[in-house]
Amino acid sequence: MELDWKNLGFGYMKTDYNIRSYYRDGAWTTPVMASDETVNLHMAATGLHYGQEAFEGLKAFRGADGKVRIFRPEENAKRLRSSAAYLRMAEPPVELFIEMVREVVKANERFIPPYGTGASLYIRPVLFGSGPQVGVKPAAEYLLIIFVTPVGPYYKEGFNPIKVIIDRDHDRAAPLGTGHIKAGGNYGASLVSSEEAHRKGYPSVLYLDAREKKYIDESGAANFFAIRGGKYITPSSHSVLPSITNMSLMALAEELGLQVEARPVEAAELGTFEEAGACGTAAVISPIGSVFDPESNHTYVYNNGETGPWCQKLYTKLRAIQHGEEPDTYGWNLML
Ligand code: PLP
Ligand code: COI
Repeated sequence: MELDWKNLGFGYMKTDYNIRSYYRDGAWTTPVMASDETVNLHMAATGLHYGQEAFEGLKAFRGADGKVRIFRPEENAKRLRSSAAYLRMAEPPVELFIEMVREVVKANERFIPPYGTGASLYIRPVLFGSGPQVGVKPAAEYLLIIFVTPVGPYYKEGFNPIKVIIDRDHDRAAPLGTGHIKAGGNYGASLVSSEEAHRKGYPSVLYLDAREKKYIDESGAANFFAIRGGKYITPSSHSVLPSITNMSLMALAEELGLQVEARPVEAAELGTFEEAGACGTAAVISPIGSVFDPESNHTYVYNNGETGPWCQKLYTKLRAIQHGEEPDTYGWNLML
């Protein structure tokens, strides 16, 4: 199949199959492959009314050797279980999740972008309460669907530095709320903020902690990290999503000789960093060229707005592991 692989954006494209399993009567049904893009849903489903919904995002890559690698699906399975537990949804077993990911990628093999195009196959699991409820209570039935779609870069900048703006007028997640899980509601709550940022010419928003506006939380739908004095510094906070990319970069940073500091990071430190970046499955590593603070009207610029050497090294290493160009010493890749 000939797609314009090199010019794919980050969006939905119809593929051949998605895979589904219901949680009913206390058990998960045998996954079924579907070609229908729609879902027949009860109008009183808790996923629609009460936000019993969470999702995941992971990627499959075609390697230099032609083989297909899925990056750390077990971690996404575990995170989905933790999202489900918090939202009082049925938790899909890790083995079921991984098997469904594997099957749906296999069934859509012709949509896995060729090696060297910079594109990948984005895998989107979504879990929600499909059973009816009118009182605010968990549903008795859940649906897990996994679909895939070929994608290019999340930001139109690709691996080039992005401009970020601090938003003090909206919070993505409350201090003891749902920031640590991948609940769809967090993303609904972020739309107003990202729309305003886009209008002002910034592709991403830097969120500060909701309680004091003193600490850095996240950069849009990605974790924040910075480099200073041989250290890889990244915020640890209850309202930050535990990013699998960030977890991987922390291991690579250490291997490359950086000291890793995962701790509360004050916004006051923004002026002290040598490099900054946003990381996530969709964003991969997006170097942050600058952060604009509307309160002080100050712009913090990193590495003259160019991609810094550590962002480059980390990106190169992560990409090489994902594409089978370097040995997978951590055992991160699931071979299809
Ligand atoms: N933070 C938020 C809010 C996200 O939506 C994502 C995307 O999944 C991330 C961080 C990065 O997480 P991961 O690296 O697991 O994709
Ligand atoms: C991801 O990186 O997988 C995300 O979830 C980001 C965004 C598309 C929601």
